Amino acid sequence: MLNAALIGLGYWGKNLARNLAADKDINLHTICDMNIELTKKNAEKYATVARVTDDYDAVIRDPSIDAIVIATPIATHFDLAKKALEAKKHVFVEKPLASSALECDALIEISDRNKLVLMVGHVFEFNSAVIKVKELIDSGEIGEVLYINGQRLNLGRVQTNLNALWSLAPHDISITNLWLQAEPNAVSARGFSYLTNGVEDVVFVTLEYPGNISVSLTLSWLDPRKSRLMTVVGTDKMVVYDDVSLDGKISIHDKGIENLSKFLKEPESFSEFHHKIRNGDVLFPNFNFIEPLAVECAHFAECILNNRTPRTDGRNGRNVVKVLEAAQKSLKNQGERITLA
Ligand SMILES: NC(=O)c1ccc[n+]([C@@H]2O[C@H](COP(=O)([O-])OP(=O)(O)OC[C@H]3O[C@@H](n4cnc5c(N)ncnc54)[C@H](O)[C@@H]3O)[C@@H](O)[C@H]2O)c1
Repeated sequence: MLNAALIGLGYWGKNLARNLAADKDINLHTICDMNIELTKKNAEKYATVARVTDDYDAVIRDPSIDAIVIATPIATHFDLAKKALEAKKHVFVEKPLASSALECDALIEISDRNKLVLMVGHVFEFNSAVIKVKELIDSGEIGEVLYINGQRLNLGRVQTNLNALWSLAPHDISITNLWLQAEPNAVSARGFSYLTNGVEDVVFVTLEYPGNISVSLTLSWLDPRKSRLMTVVGTDKMVVYDDVSLDGKISIHDKGIENLSKFLKEPESFSEFHHKIRNGDVLFPNFNFIEPLAVECAHFAECILNNRTPRTDGRNGRNVVKVLEAAQKSLKNQGERITLA
């Protein structure tokens, strides 16, 4: 059993606490949060928790704690993770890993030097639907990927000191990096503030991946409907991943343009027009769905116990932060195209 401390029992920390407490290899021993009174009350439901505190330094000094799970605001990730790694604790940090690639590099260096697990909470990489889409891409069933379109929309949770890019895009960037097994060459982003001055509530991002694959993302917490939709358009088939759907998260569309030169030729009849577009069957593949956060927590424990590198390690976290930083620069420069080394 690993003795773990959770730092931050806010909105997302509560989901982590529930899954950490349920994991067979983890003993959720300590919860640390600056808001001590509320945390004492909220922590009552986790039977294994022996200590609730607001003293972070005491937690990382405690030799009985093996692992620290950080679910605090992004601006605090680097300092808290660095201290924990320096105190020789294994560390899990919620997404994004830190506020800059330089900070990520420093965390990677300390974890490597101290031979510690450093993992980032890119929870969608543990989502069976996302993994299923990756299998479809890897198998060649949809042909070559041409482009991906993603929408992450909802009415709320509105953030006032963090824009929609940093709050929402880490998920989509980690998903597309995973699906394409690559990182973008270039990024551009536009963003608009409507609720809080200087905080973009709506952000449009374009990522350019190797092989002329484009990814466009629309991110907003000011939209009437919750949408977690990603469409992958391939040369042979198209896949729609709808994370909100309960019974049809993935659909494979046997659709395409059969023959471009034929398609461009003026059709002589309405039926001929239809024949040039291949509009075949739609398949809803079956797969087991397990709560991704439970899989993620189990993976963290397994990596510590078996001395393995997490699928979402520090480098994986850095690859996402690098793109966020470039997109932020583009936002500030009215959508300037920023190339990534
Ligand atoms: N994976 C996901 O889908 C997902 C969803 C939401 C949030 N998150 C991530 O989770 C993290 C937390 O976000 P949230 O929405 O839960 O924020 P939140 O504001 O609801 O909660 C943060 C908690 O951390 C505490 N805190 C702040 N600074 C602290 C410190 N120095 N020491 C101890 N406690 C401290 C606060 O008191 C608060 O209880 C962020 O990194 C965010 O990106 C991930």
